[in-house]
Amino acid sequence: MQGATLVIDPALTIADVDERVFGSFVEHMGRCVYGGIYEPGHPSADADGFRRDVLELVRELGVTIVRYPGGNFVSGYDWEDGIGRRESRPRRLDLAWRSIETNQVGTDDFLAWTRKAGVDPMLAVNMGTRGLDAARRLVEYCNAPAGTAWADRRGRDPYGVRVWCIGNEMDGPWQIGHKDAVTYGKLANETGKAMRLVDPSIELVVCGSSHSRMPTFGAWEDTVLDLAWDVADHISLHAYYDPARFDTAEAFLAASLDLDRMIDTVAATADAVAARKRSDRRVSLSVDEWNVWYQTPTEAFERRGEPFVEAPPLIEDTYTVTDALVVGCILITLLRHADRVHMACLAQLVNVIAPIRSESRGGPAWRQTTYFPFQHASQYARGTVLRVELQAPTYPTEGEPAVSVLEATAVHDGGNGLTVFAVNRADEPLALRCLVQRLGSPELAEHLILDGDPQAANTADEPDRVGPRRGDGGRVDAGELHAELPPRSWNVLRLRGAG
Ligand code: AHR
Repeated sequence: MQGATLVIDPALTIADVDERVFGSFVEHMGRCVYGGIYEPGHPSADADGFRRDVLELVRELGVTIVRYPGGNFVSGYDWEDGIGRRESRPRRLDLAWRSIETNQVGTDDFLAWTRKAGVDPMLAVNMGTRGLDAARRLVEYCNAPAGTAWADRRGRDPYGVRVWCIGNEMDGPWQIGHKDAVTYGKLANETGKAMRLVDPSIELVVCGSSHSRMPTFGAWEDTVLDLAWDVADHISLHAYYDPARFDTAEAFLAASLDLDRMIDTVAATADAVAARKRSDRRVSLSVDEWNVWYQTPTEAFERRGEPFVEAPPLIEDTYTVTDALVVGCILITLLRHADRVHMACLAQLVNVIAPIRSESRGGPAWRQTTYFPFQHASQYARGTVLRVELQAPTYPTEGEPAVSVLEATAVHDGGNGLTVFAVNRADEPLALRCLVQRLGSPELAEHLILDGDPQAANTADEPDRVGPRRGDGGRVDAGELHAELPPRSWNVLRLRGAG
């Protein structure tokens, strides 16, 4: 059996986990909102029309912050359409997804939903067809005390929305109102300035690159941060991985290496801008859209030439066990960058490339395979990420000369709990040995495993086909944790007494 070693020492810390890395994303796209979180008339709907079955799964998933309302949708969105009495809200063409937007869910409804779900909101403003004026008015509507026109339209206490994205994927030619880096950088700076004049307590996210293969990647971040330095608390990066772009499962399982490099590149670029500005400020990274997305097989998702309809099913990908392992590797990658990545959003939350699926017209809701690694990470990766020393066999694959069969990290909860997260990328078992140094005499409390048929998935007919199981046979002996990681598996090893 192949073997791998991890050295874990509480003195080797990376940073405390910002709980906002366990974020997600609700866009007015497909059936994420309508038929996803919201479906009046569904047997589980509450008085506000929100599906309780979906809400329960969201709570159980452990999502902390949810980005809204887009996505590409936001670049053509007039937020004023979504407030006030539902009966008077206009039906509009949504050009991003060739859909009819009924505006039955808007800012107040979403913010009410976040309270039910126990999550914080992250609102994006339209930098495509709108700009500074609409953005500052939305901040006033959400956060200003009563006594001015927009705040009074709210008719309730201020929401205190803290995190705001200045646009979405403005580097992408597909974006409505796409801009070059100089135009966007200047606009983001002025918009952020005005938003902060309304509410100085807000945190702002400027748009970075839509993916690492964008021709402008690197130069975009450099220019935008140079021009919008004063307002950029965070810079976004988006990363979707399409299984169809990889020739083999081995190559697909190494997809997180791209995100790892992307994070390093954006951090280095932000620090280079800081140096030019003689600033010691470290801009944080917001990976506010990431996931596996079967983009090539669902190429028609933009619905070009199709009629405009309400909530068409779009990119409702069914996720396999292999997809869940890639999601697990990405989660570990985000945790290993806890010093720099302070927010991240699994995109999206329901139906649209989502960990939660639901059927409309009274149908059920269920957990996809990708639900489980996210849930485990959100539940157990709280505390300080440790820099683990890792020795493991490697394999070569397309564009990656040496991929470790083991992707791993460890999080110490500050008390006596330590959790190791590990993905075995190999198609054979891996004997894991962890040298747990200076952490008392811990014992293995639990070994959770997600594995099995790599193509297995959960569906409406078989909602519980894939789920985590408990491993046995792991043990801690004389400061060494030994466990067998099954072929192609996600593993959570929870130690107690590691104080
Ligand atoms: O999440 C789906 C889409 O992917 C979003 O609308 C856009 O921001 C990204 O390209």
